[in-house]
Amino acid sequence: MNKLISSIVTATCLFFMAGSLHAATLRVLSPANNSFVEHELLNIVLSLQDGNATSVKAVVNGKAYTKAVAEGGSSKIVCFGVTLVNGSNRIVITAANDSGEIGKSILSIYLRSRLSKPHQQPPAGFQRYYFHLPANEGACAPCHRMEPHLNDLHPAKPEESPCYQCHKRKDNSAYKHRPVSAGACFSCHEVVTGKRKYTTPKPEQSICFLCHSTQQKRWKNKKVHHGPTAVGNCSVCHDPHGSDWPSFIYMHPTDLCLNCHNDKKSGLHVIAGFFAKGHPVRGDKNPLKPDRPFSCAGCHNPHAGDTQSLLNKERGNNSAYCQTCHKL
Ligand code: HEC
Ligand code: HEC
Ligand code: HEC
Ligand code: HEC
Ligand code: HEC
Ligand code: HEC
Ligand code: HEC
Ligand code: HEC
Repeated sequence: MNKLISSIVTATCLFFMAGSLHAATLRVLSPANNSFVEHELLNIVLSLQDGNATSVKAVVNGKAYTKAVAEGGSSKIVCFGVTLVNGSNRIVITAANDSGEIGKSILSIYLRSRLSKPHQQPPAGFQRYYFHLPANEGACAPCHRMEPHLNDLHPAKPEESPCYQCHKRKDNSAYKHRPVSAGACFSCHEVVTGKRKYTTPKPEQSICFLCHSTQQKRWKNKKVHHGPTAVGNCSVCHDPHGSDWPSFIYMHPTDLCLNCHNDKKSGLHVIAGFFAKGHPVRGDKNPLKPDRPFSCAGCHNPHAGDTQSLLNKERGNNSAYCQTCHKL
């Protein structure tokens, strides 16, 4: 549809729907309907025309987010953040004033997961959503700085990063990654022209090893390498920005492993027999690292090791192995 026809259609809709819930009162600038993203933090940006809206509400899979609308002006921009779950997300956005609802829009956004097998395939017709395109950024430039400059490599304060105002929720986790908290987004993101303005290399290990060269050396010299680490996909397991789990993994370490090794859930591969119903695979405390919960990672190294099966301790003599944690 060309621009002219689309504006005629919009004008016609306004004409016929004036006074009722017309979509033109509320226009979603970001994200695009029927698209998919790969991170749970999503920003919603709306443009409100007339109607004197006093508040906006987004209901995401039943959870409500509300935002008051500042007074004044006939056209207003409202920006806020919501959180998605893996798979399909239905987002119902409404604008209201003192007399009730004055605009409504419904979005269908799919969150694709690299880990969770049932959530790896977006529905047919859904496109990967990229926000940072010149056509989208123009609408933000009046209020946000959209072009980075050299000083942004190492901002004096995180708030000085041009990314901070829109993406500050990336630094909300319990465990924060130092370069993210510092606002040094460009230690990993680079600016390119084209679809992915702020791209990162794939696999991402090359950027991780810029700073984690100690690990790179340590792991390189090991005999056994874990599949996803060996191919450099660090962010399959780690959120490079931070998370609510130590070492910025996406979830409890046992659940993390079970995404790919569900057959080990019972712990029967450690001990099985007449009495044993399998070894526990989670617990309050890892005896070898008391500040962390006990998990598959208590026995296995997720990166590399010198023993078969990446064991943290050589199995060899079984009772000696068990005694690394059990004082018998
Ligand atoms: C009329 C000025 C204005 C325009 C235009 C504007 N913004 Fe904003 N935006 C703001 C202000 C002011 C804030 C900070 C205060 C707030 O949260 O409302 C903000 C905050 C944000 C946030 C952070 C919200 C949160 O709660 O974390 C995002 C995301 C955002 N803007 C995205 C955008 C995008 C994308 C565009 C362009 C499509 C845009 N904005 C256009 C004024 C604007
Ligand atoms: C005006 C607000 C705004 C600013 C400023 C901004 N972003 Fe974004 N960014 C968004 C929105 C909106 C999205 C779409 C995904 C979402 O909702 O979070 C996005 C998405 C992204 C993506 C995913 C790919 C894409 O294009 O959708 C990356 C990577 C990204 N931003 C990095 C950055 C970096 C790095 C900076 C600072 C140099 C930055 N952004 C500044 C609003 C902003
Ligand atoms: C330690 C490296 C690193 C730093 C520092 C970093 N990022 Fe990222 N970021 C990544 C990688 C890697 C990805 C791709 C993630 C993936 O593939 O799962 C990414 C993805 C993103 C995305 C897109 C998520 C999506 O929808 O796919 C946004 C938005 C983003 N980063 C914003 C930021 C902002 C803002 C900062 C600074 C406050 C920042 N990043 C700092 C490594 C980093
Ligand atoms: C610009 C430098 C820099 C880059 C790039 C970087 N990191 Fe980090 N990272 C740090 C610093 C600084 C710390 C905190 C110091 C520490 O605890 O070792 C840290 C800590 C960590 C930790 C927590 C360590 C612990 O003891 O639990 C993990 C996990 C981590 N980074 C993973 C990554 C991954 C994955 C990447 C690539 C996507 C990456 N880092 C890229 C600087 C960086
Ligand atoms: C299979 C999932 C997985 C992959 C892939 C992975 N990690 Fe980890 N990583 C973990 C877990 C789990 C921990 C926490 C281990 C613990 O608690 O004992 C961890 C801990 C770390 C730590 C802190 C402890 C240490 O050993 O120094 C760093 C740094 C780190 N990872 C970096 C990386 C980098 C860089 C890559 C990519 C080359 C990577 N990881 C790939 C799961 C993974
Ligand atoms: C108490 C220690 C312990 C715990 C906890 C544990 N494992 Fe193991 N795991 C072992 C030992 C010992 C072996 C070696 C078995 C052998 O070679 O006979 C092994 C072998 C493996 C193997 C490779 C052998 C094969 O059959 O493919 C995988 C994969 C594995 N474990 C995954 C896991 C996962 C995933 C978890 C968490 C759900 C877990 N393990 C929890 C001790 C443990
Ligand atoms: C993204 C998928 C993925 C995740 C998550 C994952 N693994 Fe693996 N793992 C693999 C692949 C792929 C292999 C190699 C498969 C093979 O050779 O059969 C592997 C192999 C292994 C092996 C056998 C290594 C050997 O060669 O003897 C062990 C042990 C193991 N993983 C433990 C873990 C543990 C513990 C976790 C959680 C911290 C984990 N894995 C998380 C994909 C994954
Ligand atoms: C890396 C540490 C570690 C190793 C190695 C280890 N265990 Fe455990 N084991 C634990 C922890 C931690 C628990 C308790 C989990 C909890 O908090 O409930 C446990 C619990 C048990 C239990 C009690 C089960 C229950 O339900 O109460 C048995 C039996 C056991 N282990 C046997 C073994 C045997 C046999 C081996 C050697 C093949 C072994 N463990 C090796 C850490 C370990």
